[in-house]
Amino acid sequence: MMPKSSATSSLGPSSRLAVRVPFVRPSLPPLSALADSYAAIIQSRMLTKGPFLDRFERALADHLGVRHAVAVSSCTVGLMLAYKALDIAAGRCEACAGDRPACPLVLAEPLGRFGMARAGGRSEPVGEVVMPSFTFLAAPAAVVWNNLRPVFVDVDPDSTNVTPQSVAAAITPRTVAIAACHNFGNPCDVSALAAIAAEHALPLVIDAAHGFGARFEGRPVGAGATVQVFSLSPTKLLVAGEGGVVATDCDCVARLIRLGREYGNDGGYNAAFAGVNGRMPEVCAATGLAGLEILEEVAARRRQIAALYRAGLAGLPGIGWVKEALGGESSFKDFSITIDSTISGVSRDGVRRALAEQGIETRTYYDPPCHRQTAFEQFHDRRQTLPVTDALSATSLSLPIGAHVDEAIVTEVCRIIAGQVRSASF
Ligand SMILES: Cc1ncc(COP(=O)(O)O)c(C=O)c1O
Repeated sequence: MMPKSSATSSLGPSSRLAVRVPFVRPSLPPLSALADSYAAIIQSRMLTKGPFLDRFERALADHLGVRHAVAVSSCTVGLMLAYKALDIAAGRCEACAGDRPACPLVLAEPLGRFGMARAGGRSEPVGEVVMPSFTFLAAPAAVVWNNLRPVFVDVDPDSTNVTPQSVAAAITPRTVAIAACHNFGNPCDVSALAAIAAEHALPLVIDAAHGFGARFEGRPVGAGATVQVFSLSPTKLLVAGEGGVVATDCDCVARLIRLGREYGNDGGYNAAFAGVNGRMPEVCAATGLAGLEILEEVAARRRQIAALYRAGLAGLPGIGWVKEALGGESSFKDFSITIDSTISGVSRDGVRRALAEQGIETRTYYDPPCHRQTAFEQFHDRRQTLPVTDALSATSLSLPIGAHVDEAIVTEVCRIIAGQVRSASF
């Protein structure tokens, strides 16, 4: 069992319950595996743009099976730069046309071609990105930062990912890109989505923030889309402190992301386009590089914990969990359950409170869903209902998972949930 910590629960401003089982504790390589690298970085005085970045990027490209893995300061910045790069590269992607005619950007049109329209006294983006609402808010944020409009579509209740059908139905002449996510680490169907994207000559952007540790058909997820963008923040399986990775087979996109993370400046102080400081520091690259060595172990432990949760919760009325699609192996970045109060007799928030009273921290990903958030609701057509998204938002609860969660904790969590359900049925 975990020792008591002085941290407090995140159930709300009035709640001051001590956290005994944190929701997440990052899995890090042993200090002995990092100490020499950290020392070399300090001694070299190369805190950024040094040899660890190069080594980390090469190791990542190899691991993910892509031509380019470009490390950036976060997944959010990676997504922002990805839309920018796709806009610039679309239709001008000659470097790829020669050796790999399959690059979707050869035929695609620039994302920004529709620009902004005046509506109700203000400017609104016209170019649309078809994407889920049941996802993390960074995904639509990156779209809106690029003057594009998120068009939210519903997800599959089992996988919690967008389906090829829901995406295809939402494509209009204004669509400029398709975006999907490996929600909770559960791989979405990249091949089917890529086929739809290719049919419409659209780029496919996968938010793979939860993707390290996930596999599809035996291979790590990362290839097959125009870009897949990973996160290396502390809640993920591969941790760099903060950081992101843009994985792509397109030479043009990779070059533009590298330029974009350097303010758009190739060294001549004449910015080619408006970029950002999106660099990854050397200590983060060194941490991620050492983390790659333990990734399989970290993922295997998560799969074990998920199996224990499934066994412990099996048969409880109204309790479900995210299902892996055929061929997909989740990273279990999260183990997310659903609590249907009409069957179980208990609400998601009631279960959450019962766990919090025992010092067990949980998260309510993703509530509210993106289409109901202040920043994004203006883009959502209210006539378009997202019933699965709304239901998942109201009923989903992510349980603690990671190396700090042992069998005794899983048993305790399942016992508390079962107790709630059983007491409700009497
Ligand atoms: C699905 C998803 N996308 C994007 C992000 C943003 O990642 P980062 O914090 O590295 O910017 C997160 C963060 O957890 C996420 O969960």
